[in-house]
Amino acid sequence: MHQDIEKVLIDEGIIQKRLDVLAGKVADDFEGKPMVVVALLKGAVLFTADLLRRVALPMQIEFLNVASYHGCTESSGVVSFLDETLPDVEGKVVLLLDDILDTGRTLEAVMKKLEQQGACEVKTCVLLAKDIEREVFKEADYTGFMIGDEFVVGYGLDYQGLYRNLPYVGVLKDSAL
Ligand code: XMP
Repeated sequence: MHQDIEKVLIDEGIIQKRLDVLAGKVADDFEGKPMVVVALLKGAVLFTADLLRRVALPMQIEFLNVASYHGCTESSGVVSFLDETLPDVEGKVVLLLDDILDTGRTLEAVMKKLEQQGACEVKTCVLLAKDIEREVFKEADYTGFMIGDEFVVGYGLDYQGLYRNLPYVGVLKDSAL
């Protein structure tokens, strides 16, 4: 285990097993629909690669660079779109992937943007969802794991740019914060 990690919340094997289940559901639901995956950078990168290699359907994969956390452990609530051009989703069925559903503001904002861009349907899929009351975006269509209201890193999630490459989801020691 990494020296800065206090505890492992979800280990690698459990994540990978859960991805088999999520991928099965996605494959059943999107079968026969030309699909565009829009994955949010950078947190959803590991999740996206591991999930999509299990989905044997034709798909276009796009990444969207969105900032909402700005390097601290509290959500800023402000969502900025950092790309100059957005993926072409007009008339398409979209699977939107993110690492974690926290306040819901990110998915709410991206969903709106994709709808404005003409997507005909947007389904959302997150690796993690915090078990908290949300004012916006109550629930994703597909959720890997529900977790408590604590700051987590690993498997794509970072603290100040670090820990994304850990194969598990864990909680940092106070001394690392
Ligand atoms: P919202 O609040 O918009 O947050 O649902 C979604 C984005 O905020 C980041 N986030 C976290 N990042 N550990 C992290 O490393 C966390 O516990 C955490 N909670 C939220 C993440 O970028 C997510 O896409």
